[in-house]
Amino acid sequence: MEFHHVSVMPEEVLDALQIDPDGVYVDCTLGGAGHSRRIAERLSQKGRLIGLDQDAEAIAAAKERLAGFPCRIDIVHSNFRRLGEVLSELDAPPLSGVLFDLGVSSHQLDTAERGFSYMQDAPLDMRMNPEAGQNAADVVNTYSEEELSRIFHDYGEERWGKRIAEFIVKARGEKPIERTGELVDIVSRAVPKAVRRAQNGHPAKRIFQAIRIEVNDELGILEAAFKTAVHHLKPGGRIAILTFHSLEDRIAKRTLQEMARGCICPPELPVCICHHQKEVRLLGKAKKATKEELAENSRAKSAKLRVAEKLAVEQEEVEEHAGA
Ligand SMILES: C[S@@+](CC[C@H](N)C(=O)[O-])C[C@H]1O[C@@H](n2cnc3c(N)ncnc32)[C@H](O)[C@@H]1O
Repeated sequence: MEFHHVSVMPEEVLDALQIDPDGVYVDCTLGGAGHSRRIAERLSQKGRLIGLDQDAEAIAAAKERLAGFPCRIDIVHSNFRRLGEVLSELDAPPLSGVLFDLGVSSHQLDTAERGFSYMQDAPLDMRMNPEAGQNAADVVNTYSEEELSRIFHDYGEERWGKRIAEFIVKARGEKPIERTGELVDIVSRAVPKAVRRAQNGHPAKRIFQAIRIEVNDELGILEAAFKTAVHHLKPGGRIAILTFHSLEDRIAKRTLQEMARGCICPPELPVCICHHQKEVRLLGKAKKATKEELAENSRAKSAKLRVAEKLAVEQEEVEEHAGA
């Protein structure tokens, strides 16, 4: 199956990264290499692109699509939670830019047997790296009712999560839940038809999102990965983060804001004891896709792009103590 994914906000991402032809760039979420190809096209022989993805199918597609560019290209099959180790294994110099285009690719969603879509019946899997860790069936069949209810609430923002968890536990008492279709039926039984009609989309969509986030630990690794990326930027280097739902976006916003602040001591302290240094400058507010892009790519609807620039050491203002 051909790898299909239309890159989101491609022009805005390039603009955010301000590609230096001789620079070193890291794409932490290669996918079909849509963004990476655009970066590689702008790099000279001295430039370098490092791409990571935890999905072997994305790695295979990216290898093909990134062949033949003059710059050096390293493609690494890894979770970006290992970004620091990957960069040191590759002996990477300070970076000019890092990109995170979070979430799943259209290829992952459209490949029925990967079990990401609530619209196609398939085994309950949802792992972005099918060789690692627990899958969706493990979550659905082994988590307690309270744990399921919590992830449906926290990661799916589903108001009927408690009742859906109750129905899942009852159903799996009769036989393990193995397929996406069975899970959709259980969700449909738990949420009355009238509520489903009035709601914004099928509740299974939110339940699948919640399980996918849990299976892949999508949120737990973000803050540390963003901080590692900024740590490896050279002064003036840029970090660009594309998020697709409010949970991811909150973490991106909070982490960048924290790195853009100086002293974080409680104001009642007479002197600074945190010695927290500003590391980045935020480049404007989150950007959204244009109307033209939305008309062509519905995936761009919820996208937000946040960008920050690493400060030079001499630029780092030693901020006034927060309580002064
Ligand atoms: C939205 S797609 C990227 C699409 C790509 N920017 C393009 O234009 O073709 C996200 C990709 O990131 C990968 N991914 C998500 N979380 C990851 C993680 N923690 N580590 C490595 N790859 C990850 C997914 O497997 C998926 O292929």
